[in-house]
Amino acid sequence: MELVAKRRQKQGPEGISYNKSAKQSIPDLIDLSVGDTDLITDSRIIERARADALKGYTHYGDPKGDPELAEAILRAWREDHGESVPGEQLLVTASSCLGMALVMLAMLDPGDEVIIFSPYFSVYREQVELAGGKPVFVPTYQQEGYAISERRLRDAITPRTRAMIFNNPNNPTGAVYGRETLEMLARVAREKDLAVVADDIYTYYFFEGEYLPIRCLPGMAERTVTLNSFSKNFLMTGWRVGYIIAPSPLIQAMSDINGALCYSTPSISQRAAIEALALRAELGACYGSVYRQRVEYAAGRIAAIPYLSLLPPRGTFYLFPGIEATGLSSREFCRQLLEKAHILVTPGSAFGSEGEGHFRIACTVGLDALGEAFDRMQGLKF
Ligand SMILES: Cc1ncc(COP(=O)(O)O)c(C=O)c1O
Repeated sequence: MELVAKRRQKQGPEGISYNKSAKQSIPDLIDLSVGDTDLITDSRIIERARADALKGYTHYGDPKGDPELAEAILRAWREDHGESVPGEQLLVTASSCLGMALVMLAMLDPGDEVIIFSPYFSVYREQVELAGGKPVFVPTYQQEGYAISERRLRDAITPRTRAMIFNNPNNPTGAVYGRETLEMLARVAREKDLAVVADDIYTYYFFEGEYLPIRCLPGMAERTVTLNSFSKNFLMTGWRVGYIIAPSPLIQAMSDINGALCYSTPSISQRAAIEALALRAELGACYGSVYRQRVEYAAGRIAAIPYLSLLPPRGTFYLFPGIEATGLSSREFCRQLLEKAHILVTPGSAFGSEGEGHFRIACTVGLDALGEAFDRMQGLKF
């Protein structure tokens, strides 16, 4: 019997590599492939979760989020961005992967189009298609500094366009978008009556400029869905906790769907997130500088490798070097890097067709391991 539905019998998008067999069979492998960190969550956050679990936070919680966490998120938002967001505009989610899927499931009717700037975080495509939507890709290019072109954006808009997904700083390119781009996107969104789905999960990793939520621009709160997550900003990838700020009818629709998917976000993780927010000034500065140091070190090493090209890093903990000089496809380049140098990275094609000709390095190992990886790369010829 065929158990998989016809609609799921497609070849899925080329995902981010998680090469288990390489990890097992290559003892000196340096893994720069997954956007997860080598650092453990701060011990005070872990202790808070432990203590609260022992107090009884082991049950289902409020489907919209632990009231104390909700209050802490809204307070932090007010302090950091000067905007008072009412409680009914917040939904705590079990990660922003789930969050983005909820947004699409609640926002799209079959055939609705969602603009995605490419290269893009691979999962967006599945999240849009899962909801019956159609992803429409608007390219950005290394040679243009990954700038978002207003003309290309306008050309991609049709009567079916509902929303654009905007990720700042950007995974995989490391690009950072400033006020001018935000204002352009806001202008187009208002004019064409589109929603902006802002994936703002690397906000502590701006190396240039600072985080300005697009929802804070005039007239944008009513059409912006802001996703955030504790995964990257607080090195809490395994805790699976994030949140969404959006107009209340959408929050209610997402909460209803979430009720059928996981009901409430893990209680223990939410208690941990309360502590994380209390420590945000200290941890944000610390993690920002740790990753900035790694990324800048890696960029310096890449500059000395003739077969690679790179823009100066501006945010996140990713680098997205070009490999045109090798004449290889990104998959073949990554295969050879694994075979010849025991380095695991992600082919650019995993991030959409505009990612071809690149590969992604996640600087999620310490400086010593990064140094070793670049020593190996420097010795290669293509
Ligand atoms: C741009 C972007 N959005 C969302 C996510 C998913 O985050 P979470 O761990 O909260 O599901 C990631 C994870 O790599 C990401 O890079």
